[in-house]
Amino acid sequence: MIQTVEERKELMRKIRDEVIALKKSPLYKFRIENKNLPVIGEGSHFAKIMFIGEAPGRNEAKTGRPFCGRAGDILNELLESVGIKREEVYVTNIVKDRPPQNRDPLPEEIEIYGPFLDRQIEIIQPKVIATLGRYSMYYVMPKLGLEFELEPISKNHGKIFAVPREALAKWGWKNHEVKIVPLYHPAVAVYNAHTLDQLKKDFEVLKDL
Ligand code: URA
Repeated sequence: MIQTVEERKELMRKIRDEVIALKKSPLYKFRIENKNLPVIGEGSHFAKIMFIGEAPGRNEAKTGRPFCGRAGDILNELLESVGIKREEVYVTNIVKDRPPQNRDPLPEEIEIYGPFLDRQIEIIQPKVIATLGRYSMYYVMPKLGLEFELEPISKNHGKIFAVPREALAKWGWKNHEVKIVPLYHPAVAVYNAHTLDQLKKDFEVLKDL
C-alpha cells in the first residue's frame, strides 16, 4: 500500500516523466510538432472519486490540464450540482496525449497509455471510479474483474458495480471496497440535452455513494 503524500506525489511525478519521454507512442510526434503537452491528471492524490475520460482535446493539450474545455465546463457544472468540489476528486484520461482532430483513441494508443492509468489507480486507491464515456468503461471494467457486466453504455450508465473480491485481492486491496459507475461522456452533453439530463441524474448516484 502506498501511504504518504510524498510517496504518492513522487510516483505521480515518475508517471509524468515517463509519459513526457514516451517516444514510442504514435501520438508523440504530433505532440511535439504542435507544441502540445501531455495531460497526466489533476486533483487530490487521496481522492475518493476518480473520473476517467478518454483523451485530451485541444484545450487540454495546450494547458496540460484534463477537462478544461467545454466538456470540462459541463463536468464542473455536474460536480457542483451534487456539491462535490473538483479539487477533492482526481480527473484523468486513459490516453495522455491528444489524438489528431480529436478522433477516438485507437486500440494501440489505449494499450500504450493504459498501464499509466493502472498505476494512477494503484496510487490513488479510489473508492469510486467514474468512467466518462464508453472507452474508459470498456477499459476499466475488465481491469477490475467486471468484464461479465459489460453492456453498451446506454444500459450501464448510472449503475453501481462493486469490484469483486478476487479483483480487489489482485490489486492488493485489503479491507477496501471499490465501486465503478459508468457515465456518459460530458462532451456528448454539449449538444444533447437528453444526455445532460441523464448525466445530472447519474451524478446523484455519486453523491449517494
Ligand atoms: N475529453 C476527454 O475525454 N478528456 C479530456 O480531458 C477532455 C475532453
